Amino acid sequence: MDDRLRRRIYRLMKHNRRAQDGFVYTVPSPDLYPFQWLWDSCFHAVILAHFDEKAAYAELHSVLARPLQNHLLPHIIYWKKDYRITNWGREMRGDIISASWGIEGTSAITQPPLLASVLWDLHKRFKNTAFLKKHYETIRAYYLALLRERDPEARGLFGIINPDESGEDNSPRFDRAQGLSSHHLDRENLDKRIERIQQNRDCDFDARECMRKHFWVEDVSFNAIALRAFEALACIADELNEKTDARGFRNCAEHTKKSMRAEMRYRNDLYYSLECYAHTPIKLKTWNIFMPLYAGILEKEEAKKLIETHLVDPTTFWTPFAIPSVARDEKVYAKENFWRGPSWMAINWFIYKGLVGYGYHDLANALKERSIALVNHSGFREYYDPETGMGLGSKDFTWGGLIIDM
Ligand code: GLC
Repeated sequence: MDDRLRRRIYRLMKHNRRAQDGFVYTVPSPDLYPFQWLWDSCFHAVILAHFDEKAAYAELHSVLARPLQNHLLPHIIYWKKDYRITNWGREMRGDIISASWGIEGTSAITQPPLLASVLWDLHKRFKNTAFLKKHYETIRAYYLALLRERDPEARGLFGIINPDESGEDNSPRFDRAQGLSSHHLDRENLDKRIERIQQNRDCDFDARECMRKHFWVEDVSFNAIALRAFEALACIADELNEKTDARGFRNCAEHTKKSMRAEMRYRNDLYYSLECYAHTPIKLKTWNIFMPLYAGILEKEEAKKLIETHLVDPTTFWTPFAIPSVARDEKVYAKENFWRGPSWMAINWFIYKGLVGYGYHDLANALKERSIALVNHSGFREYYDPETGMGLGSKDFTWGGLIIDM
């Protein structure tokens, strides 16, 4: 990557840095997302590690600062006391972002549990054992809560209680579980998501009750990310000489691997998320079908088939400005609609890591070149039209910086 692009990423990260109450964090985008988000902060730590070790650790330090009562990490920390004054308007999802969660200062739902994986990657590079020691109990409690709260039947699979917990708020994967037709209006989607938060609140965010009564999906990407995180957590535990924990976390990763293979792999082929009441697979080709690569749970031949049949097919995912969140040949594909078609840089980053893991270096490089081209073409936007590369959504959005880690 050329120096000019590196400098642009660094400037963006600095521009979006904020300090409050002795904590430093990065906002995904100053206009639409002026708070701290959980998985975004993990991406930020990944990006910052290429510039500034201290800033990378500071980002994780702040995202660990406000665990929920049940020890899960909230998907948003507001930091500023006056956050409810901000008025984004309903059509900008203001009603969700500033929802009243029944607690002060944070949301009460969570997001994909990427943290331990990112922390372990930082550690391999910088060897900051003091940071591991300082935060081990919080992190340990967080992942134990994930097991307890989100896998109550010990199936080895973690459930989400709200589509926003997947990080892909309006993905068509959730249409049926949300009681929406596949061609609903944006307004209807928003209404359902607001209603869902209200239901979660009525259940006091008790996951079992929320799952039993309202919404329970076992999502491929959430589980792939959890699996890798438990592996990383085992390494962290080893590093701190917590041998029993390390063994336990490795078993969890193994359990999830087995369960994903047994339950999510549909007819020996693609992995689909599950609607849990009837354990129905959500048969829709979204970018999630590639997350088993990131999770490292495929046999070599399976990976080859997946890549050759689906990833490099221009009629589905290998679009000029890849990778679309939904396959181009799906009926619901809508190239400008948030998680219903557009390309997002985090998708490319996860798939890039998966390809490297399976030794597909040339293809990974091709994806990296496409990602760089996308940023050169349209700047740091929230998401992009996969066919024209047009930038969409909020501006000065940080995720484009992930190209530095490809
Ligand atoms: C949107 C995205 C979500 C992200 C948040 C902040 O809600 O869907 O993944 O965490 O914005 O960037």
